[in-house]
Amino acid sequence: MAEPTSTPIYDDQGRELIVKVEGLQKYFGKNHVLKGIDLQVFKGEVVVLIGPSGSGKSTFLRCLNFLEDPTTGEIGIGGVHVTCGSHGGRFKQDVHQIRMKCGMVFQEFNLFPHKDAIENVIEGPVLVKGEKKDAAIKKGQALLTKVGLADRMDFFPSQLSGGQKQRVAIARAMAMDPVLMLFDEPTSALDPELIGEVLKVMKDLASQGMTMIVVSHEMGFSRDVADRVVYMDDGYFIEQGPPSEVFFHPKDERTKRFLRHILPEKDPRHAKELGIIAVEEELPEPDAAPLQAPVGAALNEDNLADNALPRIPLSDGPSGELPLPPGGEEL
Ligand SMILES: Nc1ncnc2c1ncn2[C@@H]1O[C@H](COP(=O)(O)OP(=O)(O)O)[C@@H](O)[C@H]1O
Ligand SMILES: [Mg+2]
Repeated sequence: MAEPTSTPIYDDQGRELIVKVEGLQKYFGKNHVLKGIDLQVFKGEVVVLIGPSGSGKSTFLRCLNFLEDPTTGEIGIGGVHVTCGSHGGRFKQDVHQIRMKCGMVFQEFNLFPHKDAIENVIEGPVLVKGEKKDAAIKKGQALLTKVGLADRMDFFPSQLSGGQKQRVAIARAMAMDPVLMLFDEPTSALDPELIGEVLKVMKDLASQGMTMIVVSHEMGFSRDVADRVVYMDDGYFIEQGPPSEVFFHPKDERTKRFLRHILPEKDPRHAKELGIIAVEEELPEPDAAPLQAPVGAALNEDNLADNALPRIPLSDGPSGELPLPPGGEEL
């Protein structure tokens, strides 16, 4: 079998790109879920993806490491490049290489229930990468220690809390020496008191220079850790920028609507973290010009997909500024 090609990609300033995605599209049957996504992620960068349920966030992550078969587009990860939709030996080989370069952590942990923590961690390195078992155990023990589970190596998933299970899952993903870590809502299945311990492990990974794409609405985490926040809606990346921009000065109406309406309603805790409160509906003056839609339509969730909505009134300040973060702290 020919050696797979892996050629690092650099931008014109000499920075290494770990992810380069161009024109990525995904259909499930007739359902057009990803509608042409472009993304570049530099080495060591942390990108947080937010957006309403059903907008395609999980599908995007799953296409990146080919858990789903993307319909068209180009995906380059860690210097391995694949043209989606092609087939054949070369394609399969490159897809395999990309899978090996990505670690993924899911909402539901996905641990093997009949294996203890260390066995879960060494499974990939031994079976997929062909590492020697002794060496894999040593590395696995170091990883489990790093995520704070030195005393839980021989515990089975059923004997671990949700937070501990997710930390095993992170150690397991790291055991494959990935160049990129993908997290799909890693804390949303956890009881609130267990979320912090998982976010801390993720923060540690980020501070050690791991390149990460994280789907999460943990706003405090994003504010502290994300280099870039991307707002996704209806299969598109709508806007992106540093958290201070996207959270506090969103430009696109859809981002504003998500942050001001959907987040407080669906995710009051995370909205509160950002200091965003639900927008009170402003009733028009009795003699004001009629709205394009019945009063209240804008706040009706069924209508949120309709781009022909009247402009949603923005609260908190005459210029429509978003509220400052709690305590007015600087970001
Ligand atoms: N395996 C699948 N088969 C068919 N449709 C899917 C599959 N996975 C996701 N979808 C559809 O793709 C759309 C986006 O879903 P998803 O990527 O899970 O969104 P998000 O993660 O943003 O909530 C939804 O319409 C969903 O029903
Ligand atoms: Mg999802």
